[in-house]
Amino acid sequence: MTYRIAPSILSADFARLGEEVRNVLAAGADVVHFDVMDNHYVPNLTIGPMVCEAVRPHARAGGAADGNPVPIDVHLMVRPVDRIVPDFARAGADIISFHPEASDHVDRTLGLIRESGCKAGLVLNPATSLDYLDHVMDKLDLILIMSVNPGFGGQKFIAHALAKLKAVRARIDAHRAAGGQEIWLEVDGGVKSDNIRAIAQAGADTFVAGSAIFGAADYASVISAMRAELAAA
Ligand code: DX5
Ligand code: ZN
Repeated sequence: MTYRIAPSILSADFARLGEEVRNVLAAGADVVHFDVMDNHYVPNLTIGPMVCEAVRPHARAGGAADGNPVPIDVHLMVRPVDRIVPDFARAGADIISFHPEASDHVDRTLGLIRESGCKAGLVLNPATSLDYLDHVMDKLDLILIMSVNPGFGGQKFIAHALAKLKAVRARIDAHRAAGGQEIWLEVDGGVKSDNIRAIAQAGADTFVAGSAIFGAADYASVISAMRAELAAA
């Protein structure tokens, strides 16, 4: 199992965003999680394509100028979705995920993301049914299970997400066994080093963590503690 740690820059110091991205990658992170909120679909307002474009050159392995590009994982908490997708693709997003409730045509939006050259993901809120996955498994590169209600960092992990992750892991494994493409299973909200092992055991492979990492003085020590827990999973 390949595990990926995806710090959410929502909890970074926005006045020093490029440096924060380099520092967290130097500390061993694998993916940059980029939370886009619109004060409409969710009750908060964050960053858009211009900031994504500004961050793109800093998203390199090890935080080094000559490192390989690291994926920027754009989590759209916006309505409407389609209007903004090409802007994020042009701004250097690698993965774009969205909430099905925010799109009138989920299949069309997934196609639009892939046609724009990005990997496509669907995000399921704590109360959102897995039924949304039924007819689109072949169009997904990522499924993101929310373990908090979207809108804010620093919330408590909702334990029911573990059962949901197990159910989605079974769906992904069945899809793969039938010859389907790879699909990452990501979790977002309240992930810390003291619960990451149980979350991995439930089937997640990609772990968003905002406050747990950016709230600490030493990013590398949190990320290595998370990796040690993952190694024991
Ligand atoms: C919440 C965002 C999360 C958030 C996670 O709507 O999607 O990515 O930053 O923050 P923590 O890890 O602090 O729960
Ligand atoms: Zn997020």
